[in-house]
Amino acid sequence: MSEAPPISGLVELKSLQKRVLSQIESLPSLSTVVGEFLQLSRREYFTAMDFEKILVKDQALVARLLKVANSSFFGCPRPIETVHEAIVLIGMDNMKNIVYAVSSSGLLRKQMKCYMYPDKGYWLHSMAVALSAREIADAAKSDVVGPEEAFVAGLMHDIGKLILDEFLDHEPGPRIVSLAEEKEATGFNHIELGSKIMERWNISDSIHSALRYHHDFMVEGEPHHGGAIISIADRLCNTWCVGTNRMMNLGADVEYEDHAQALDALSIKEDKFKAIQMKLRKKLVSIEDFYSGDE
Ligand SMILES: [Fe+2]
Ligand SMILES: [Fe+2]
Repeated sequence: MSEAPPISGLVELKSLQKRVLSQIESLPSLSTVVGEFLQLSRREYFTAMDFEKILVKDQALVARLLKVANSSFFGCPRPIETVHEAIVLIGMDNMKNIVYAVSSSGLLRKQMKCYMYPDKGYWLHSMAVALSAREIADAAKSDVVGPEEAFVAGLMHDIGKLILDEFLDHEPGPRIVSLAEEKEATGFNHIELGSKIMERWNISDSIHSALRYHHDFMVEGEPHHGGAIISIADRLCNTWCVGTNRMMNLGADVEYEDHAQALDALSIKEDKFKAIQMKLRKKLVSIEDFYSGDE
């Protein structure tokens, strides 16, 4: 039988856990625009006007959005001055991506001390997983998690690391931090902590559970769709080194067999998986430039 930890150690851990949890309160929440966006995307049909109505509630967001829309990346022949013009000129899909990116950048653009993400790598990784998750969910046509929910789950999947980074040992510098190291140091791993953040923010269950199962998507012997989607997206982006400290390598092959269990659960066949990867390579190659207008 293992020895019980001394009482003083337990008290210390409890007070540390309390300090970790109190950090959740100080996280800036996602803009309310994101929540309203999700509601809108659940509707069967919506217009550019509906989209605009949500955006105008947050003028600071609109200003930053227009700045990105006007960046050289989109190369518009004339300046874009309104949300409506932006939707017409660069398209609804691009606009949606910019809205998500801009509204999450204040929260996610953090230079990590312990996790191995250079500069804004953590944010790039989160955005890349989000874009990938949306594409996979779209192909899966799961009724458990829709493409927009998968996107937000991808964006938030590692949010627990934001808080944990402050509490881990900074001494060894940036490294691969295991779930076990997180748990040992703070009493929580990034999944448990992320889950607490989702609770605190009242995030819908489909997003919350996709986050909760992104490292192990088998739940009571059954594959969890949301968890499977984020798990594939996360591993794709890590294999391609998006946001990591190594050179991005979108040419790296990702085999169907490596994700067979998750892909099978989502009814995604091999040819479809190849097509998803082709689409994603095109999107991810310019991910850094896409958001460069929002510096
Ligand atoms: Fe993770
Ligand atoms: Fe991740």
